[in-house]
Amino acid sequence: MVQRQFPKPAEVLEFMKVKPPQFGRDARLKKALTISDLRAIAKRRTPAAAFDYTDGAADQELSIARAREAFEDIEFHPDILRPAEHVDTTTEILGGTSALPFGIAPTGFTRLMQTEGETAGAGAAGAAGIPFTLSTLGTTSIEDVKKANPNGRNWFQLYVLRDREVSYGLVKRAAEAGFDTLHFTVDTPIAGNRMRDSRNGFSIPPQLTLGTIANAIPRPWWWIDFLTTPKLEFASLTSTGGTVGDLIGQAMDPTISYEDLATIREMWPGKIVIKGVQNVPDAVKLIGMGVDGLVLSNHGGRQLDRAPIPFRLLPQVVKEVGADATVMIDTGIMNGQDIVASIALGAKFTLIGRAYLYGLMAGGRAGVDRTIQILSSEVRRTMALLGVSSIEELEPRHVTQLTRLVPVR
Ligand SMILES: Cc1cc2nc3c(=O)[nH]c(=O)nc-3n(C[C@H](O)[C@H](O)[C@H](O)COP(=O)(O)O)c2cc1C
Repeated sequence: MVQRQFPKPAEVLEFMKVKPPQFGRDARLKKALTISDLRAIAKRRTPAAAFDYTDGAADQELSIARAREAFEDIEFHPDILRPAEHVDTTTEILGGTSALPFGIAPTGFTRLMQTEGETAGAGAAGAAGIPFTLSTLGTTSIEDVKKANPNGRNWFQLYVLRDREVSYGLVKRAAEAGFDTLHFTVDTPIAGNRMRDSRNGFSIPPQLTLGTIANAIPRPWWWIDFLTTPKLEFASLTSTGGTVGDLIGQAMDPTISYEDLATIREMWPGKIVIKGVQNVPDAVKLIGMGVDGLVLSNHGGRQLDRAPIPFRLLPQVVKEVGADATVMIDTGIMNGQDIVASIALGAKFTLIGRAYLYGLMAGGRAGVDRTIQILSSEVRRTMALLGVSSIEELEPRHVTQLTRLVPVR
């Protein structure tokens, strides 16, 4: 028999302590425990066309869905009784250090998502000790990014445009501003088919239609920010008007080739990385040519839909190019566990695109800080639970890739 008693009023009150509701940006961000939580906040606060431009991908969006699924299908193998009391997440990448095994990927039109744009990304990256990458289609100038991240590492992503002189001018300016690595993106000879943009009538600059006005009403802060801060300024392009696809179509040169790589190599004093590699022979060829690194990427599924999943390609590429080559990876990273698994399977570094942008849309600079915080604690916790104290200790034996999709041959 359980002994019963009358509850004491003081003890009842103890249970009934009501926490006053908290409002505002900090409270909102504190409640976000995962990148998916940040995405949900971003969706509520950002006009549909800008959110969809960020969140969406090409055609049926199968590439991005498969990439995320491949990360979900990881199985980890922890060692027992191997304490990892102090976890060190520092890593060496492309001639410098990074406090965490990830950096911020280049994204275009970033100030359209939230007005602080690249300044928030570069500032947050600098504060966290990780690299920030500015896109050719960025909306903050090279020099202003340097101001936002004066002591940290800045990387520049190059699109070779039809107007070669514009591209070369950017390369020179980035070198002069002390950017240490150039990412030459090679997966965008033409624009991918971004269906959500076409359906939303998404254009640069944003156009006011009945639909956009109706969508703006519950999101007044985005519009106030947009209308009361400096006009969108592109890092490079002067032409605007039309969808992003139109803009990319006008600007990109579909005939870029290895010759362009040779030219840029001569102009660029720092490290050079090819972003958008999607098969083993290309990876082997590029490393053989002496490039400083590769990013296995399908552009977050925004270019060729149904392209290979970079995380699946990773072990094959590392096997062929050797463990010393700098192979990096992006596409689909939503959790620190995705990053740990990539490093274990041989990636030297990872890049985050949308994970950063969800944070940005959820709360500007503080939102990007939150993204980095969430991923960082996920990385640390995963390493500690695996019994691993440093990045170098992560090995392929720590991860199995389970698979739902199996090639026919
Ligand atoms: C909104 C958006 C804009 C992007 N713009 C560029 C760009 O201008 N140049 C580039 O090389 N990659 C660009 N990317 C691709 C990212 O650099 C990166 O490869 C991709 O976002 C990684 O996938 P994730 O978003 O799942 O992390 C963009 C991605 C997004 C989501």
